[in-house]
Amino acid sequence: MYRTHNCGELRLNDLNQDVTLSGWVQKSRNKGFLLWIDLRDRYGVSQLIFDEKRSSKELFEKAKKLGREFVIQVEGKIIERSSKNPNIPTGDIEILVSNLKILNSSKTPPFTIENNTDGGEELRMKYRYLDIRRDTIKKKLLFRHKVNSEIRNYLSKLDFVDVETPYLIKSTPEGARDFVVPSRMNPGEFYALPQSPQTFKQLLMVGGLDKYFQIVKCFRDEDLRSDRQPEFTQIDCEMSFVTQEDVLNTFEGLTKHLLKSIKNIEVDKFPRITYDDAISKYGSDKPDIRFGMEFGELNKVTQHKEFSVFNSAELVVGISVPNGNDFTRKEIDKYVDWVKRPQIGASGMIYVRCNQDGTFKSSVDKFYDQKDLSDWADLVKANKGDIIFILSGNTNVVRSQLSALRLEIAENLNLRNSEEFAPLWVTDFPLLEWDEESQKYHAMHHPFTSPKNEDIDMLETNPGRVRANAYDLVLNGNEIGGGSIRIHDKNIQSLMFKYLGFSNEEAKEQFGFLMDAFEYGAPPHGGIALGLDRLVAILDGNESIKDYIAFPKNNSGKDVMIDAPSFLSKEQLKELSLSLKK
Ligand code: AMO
Repeated sequence: MYRTHNCGELRLNDLNQDVTLSGWVQKSRNKGFLLWIDLRDRYGVSQLIFDEKRSSKELFEKAKKLGREFVIQVEGKIIERSSKNPNIPTGDIEILVSNLKILNSSKTPPFTIENNTDGGEELRMKYRYLDIRRDTIKKKLLFRHKVNSEIRNYLSKLDFVDVETPYLIKSTPEGARDFVVPSRMNPGEFYALPQSPQTFKQLLMVGGLDKYFQIVKCFRDEDLRSDRQPEFTQIDCEMSFVTQEDVLNTFEGLTKHLLKSIKNIEVDKFPRITYDDAISKYGSDKPDIRFGMEFGELNKVTQHKEFSVFNSAELVVGISVPNGNDFTRKEIDKYVDWVKRPQIGASGMIYVRCNQDGTFKSSVDKFYDQKDLSDWADLVKANKGDIIFILSGNTNVVRSQLSALRLEIAENLNLRNSEEFAPLWVTDFPLLEWDEESQKYHAMHHPFTSPKNEDIDMLETNPGRVRANAYDLVLNGNEIGGGSIRIHDKNIQSLMFKYLGFSNEEAKEQFGFLMDAFEYGAPPHGGIALGLDRLVAILDGNESIKDYIAFPKNNSGKDVMIDAPSFLSKEQLKELSLSLKK
């Protein structure tokens, strides 16, 4: 038997027990005649003590030679520590070792396996298995497991069936590039890895399964960010005979359940906001609503004077920063410079100080009087003691600039508390999105999303204004999930393909199987997919998903541990009927 107990469970009331433990040598301290070793496993750390007087000389000498990360097995007796460590649960006891067996030796690890390691990101990724031994990463993986199993249980109880869908498929139109896999048996032909199981889950509804879920890997060849990985995991779901309301309620229920069971937080009914309102109030379709600073549009109250910057702008829009009147001139200038950085690209910013005595002081006092400034303050809901920041210009550009500033200020003022959770639904997304490059409309969500009944007529006349039965779940300013009620009528689906610029042949070639299926009694259906990596990271108070993935890719999409992607041998290329031109 390798162990009677684990390294995290022994306490004072286990005193005098004979135990066997196995684990890794975290560190050792040698006092000449006494030697302590911290023995680590998944469950914790226990202190071992070797005493030259109480143990044999031979055992003591053997213990002295143990290096960091050696794997050992020890037998010994639990004794009370003379100097206790209140920082760890096993800190009251130690194990007086009577027998030591080295199960495996270890090279000195390339970085210290401590919470605050000296290892840089690249090194930690190369030796990810060592990184996983650190509490920091291990805890995140255990946390992920907990969320994962809560989700499985919750959905299973609601009668969702877990069905696996294939990975070697044909391109799915989620909007990113596909990863492709050459087919040896079909020379010159390729599979694509799924960007999501979208079409399959719809086919499962045609198959009558009624409620499907899958915690599933998805693959997207897109540029990486802290909340994006080329392979990531979705909690993918689909339901039949449901309205949008049913889907929202079901997944609001799941999210509430996770917040309660994982974080012990009760959240009221999730607020809902339409896409149009989210964009005009926050400049973003994934607003962080843990704090206010909603946009106030100021065209009407700014464009009646001689200030040409505002007069020539498509949109003049401001936010009020709570207690911002405390900002020094230097702090204000810092924000002005911040919005002028090329990444944000504003040409300048106007501010209005709201004094405690009810007066205002602005950077455009030359043009505007106190009555004007008071009107602005009303529209941005500014209080005494606040500061108003105003940007102007092209509507879309200026909204996204102000949205970025809003988040930056909130971050600096510590208004983005990671232990506070503010979920919301964003609904009524546009069905189509104009793409400048291809000069075509693209499906904003995907081509299977249904248009709102009352907007269908506009498909012909004003396609950009057609709204979809599509929704996103947003948590603390992050898009956690997205879904829609699907088209289940073959004719409407063909119409959609037509509006998206597919010829009949192209539509048939790419989605013939789905159109065929729709001829055999497709039920009304809809669903959603939540990003598991993002959900887990945010629940745990982080926005970067990398450390919640056991073996993530780096920013160039590489796994530096296994060295992937890598070149294939000539033989492999030949077998796959591929050649590489140098
Ligand atoms: P969508 O494309 O919105 O919808 O994806 C759903 C959710 O998946 C997460 N996500 C990602 N997470 C990490 N890395 C990525 N590269 C990445 N890309 C997406 C996000 C996102 O909200 N088939 C539809 C769902 C449906 O209609 O039911 C779909 O895939 O959290």
